[in-house]
Amino acid sequence: MCGIVGAIAQRNIVPILLEGLQRLEYRGYDSAGLVVVSEGQLTRMRSTGRVAELSNISADIQGTIGIAHTRWATHGVPSERNAHPHMSRDLIAVVHNGIIENYEAIRTRLVAGGYEFASDTDTEVIAHLIHSHYVNGKTLLGATQAALTELVGAYAIGVIASDNPDQLICARRGSPLLMGIGIGENFFASDVSALLPVTNKVVYLEDGDVVEMGRQSYRIRDAAGEIVARPVQFSEISNESVQLGNYRHYMQKEIHEQPRAIADTLESVSNSHSIVPGIFGAEAAACFADIDSILILACGTSYHAGLVARYWLEEIAGIQCTVEIASEYRYRTSVANPRALVVVLSQSGETADTQAALSHAKSLGHVHTLAICNVPESALVRQSKLRFLTRAGPEIGVASTKAFTTQLVALFLLTLVLAKLRGRLTAEVEQLHLHSLRHLPAATQKVLDLEPQIAKLAEQFACKRHALFLGRGLHYPIALEGALKLKEISYIHAEAYPAGELKHGPLALVDKDMPVISVAPNDMLLEKLKSNLHEVRARGGELYVFADAGTHIREEEGVHIMQMPEHAGFLSPILHTIPLQLLAYYVALQKGTDVDKPRNLAKSVTVE
Ligand code: M6R
Repeated sequence: MCGIVGAIAQRNIVPILLEGLQRLEYRGYDSAGLVVVSEGQLTRMRSTGRVAELSNISADIQGTIGIAHTRWATHGVPSERNAHPHMSRDLIAVVHNGIIENYEAIRTRLVAGGYEFASDTDTEVIAHLIHSHYVNGKTLLGATQAALTELVGAYAIGVIASDNPDQLICARRGSPLLMGIGIGENFFASDVSALLPVTNKVVYLEDGDVVEMGRQSYRIRDAAGEIVARPVQFSEISNESVQLGNYRHYMQKEIHEQPRAIADTLESVSNSHSIVPGIFGAEAAACFADIDSILILACGTSYHAGLVARYWLEEIAGIQCTVEIASEYRYRTSVANPRALVVVLSQSGETADTQAALSHAKSLGHVHTLAICNVPESALVRQSKLRFLTRAGPEIGVASTKAFTTQLVALFLLTLVLAKLRGRLTAEVEQLHLHSLRHLPAATQKVLDLEPQIAKLAEQFACKRHALFLGRGLHYPIALEGALKLKEISYIHAEAYPAGELKHGPLALVDKDMPVISVAPNDMLLEKLKSNLHEVRARGGELYVFADAGTHIREEEGVHIMQMPEHAGFLSPILHTIPLQLLAYYVALQKGTDVDKPRNLAKSVTVE
């Protein structure tokens, strides 16, 4: 949830740390701080609020070695005293992303040993623990390794000492961390985007790795303390892809990137005459031949993608599918079917609950696992037997947009592969689906053209306090996703219901002040949906209907129509998502919220 970055160089690294933090701010943004070693002393600056505040107060600091942090509070309120880096007796400084579960016991012991705590964080115990080993004669590396053996929980940390200006230590277990290699300088960060201005030569660290970095060299030790070589890679993420360009917000940019993101995700099939299991990994054919059901595990928006897939998988592939919220599944005593394919869905691949759910599934005897993920080398990808990488590119806005639509594309491909293997897809129908998929980027672009109308519509929402989203069948999860987007960035309370469920309770909420947003595809449930909409109108509810061409829902008093293109069949949920993303975006603009960094949230939820 937090972002960390560190650098050791022959030049002043403060601008590098600040730029890195700016790029990691999506991971947490309630406070930030940095520390450098200069003239044998630790010089630390911290501030609440955004990295920009930290930049303002750090102009006069210089150093050639330092670490920095942007925070999403877990232990202790957002405040300067709880902001990282945390220090021990002006000798050791630490930044940390993750959670130390046994920090209370360690803290009690350290207090008894004479350590004074200056914050409410779990992280501060790491600084004092390292200090206690360091002053007892261990090297900085040895002291860090000794401290890490005492920690229970997840961490990615960076460590420096005031009397050791030539060594930077970093380590990870359970939280993402990579190194960047420069010429005469080295770096670490939670995410490659933080390092792109200085290098694209990176090493993804494994769980348990501890790294000693100097300016000219580095050494990685694994969990057993053995020196290991990890592959050096050249990140393909371009510096431009993480820049805002001409857009006002990352969310807007990412909504507009969807035609390209979908096209890239479809690359493996767009020039092919058929869909093959191999796109999910070399072992996919054997694995898919052995499965009799699907279990999808995910959180938030990714969970909504799973809910859409359930309709596809059962109807098109005829395979039974269950979708579970990862944070619930991980603690549920469920009956495992070892012949089920466990599919974990995640933009980041680092979501703690989804990782724990995957581990739980494996512990219950599940052997077939597939990660559909947007981040190569992420934990979920590494921990799954099969993988499909969506090609959305870096998603910076906290509200997930292009990651969702590309997940849907991947899940549709999975559906077609399984349908084919199960003898439920004729060659002719396969070609029809392939044709629709190839047309999807253009169809997406057509929906994006509705942007000016949706921006206008959003003006009517700024004064609303609640909203209801309706959908049916395949589009019920799209209503859920629309409601999540709206509440997440505009702070308007929004709920979603399958439209047929209205009369079982939620209709009581409907009055003239309750906008009701409905997804209205021209599908077999259209007439049922129309009846539900009449029920709303009869109670004075104001209707906003995203209707496909040919639905014949008329614009009239209290009924506002957004005209969508012609119905896109099974791919319709992908298209109907886009106007709801735009609606949430423009309502948030009206309300003046911080679109890319909504309050209380962070992009990657790497803590429980
Ligand atoms: O990285 P993941 O897809 O695993 O993240 C899951 C959720 O935290 C995420 O989708 C969240 O709900 C988004 N902020 C919603 O826009």
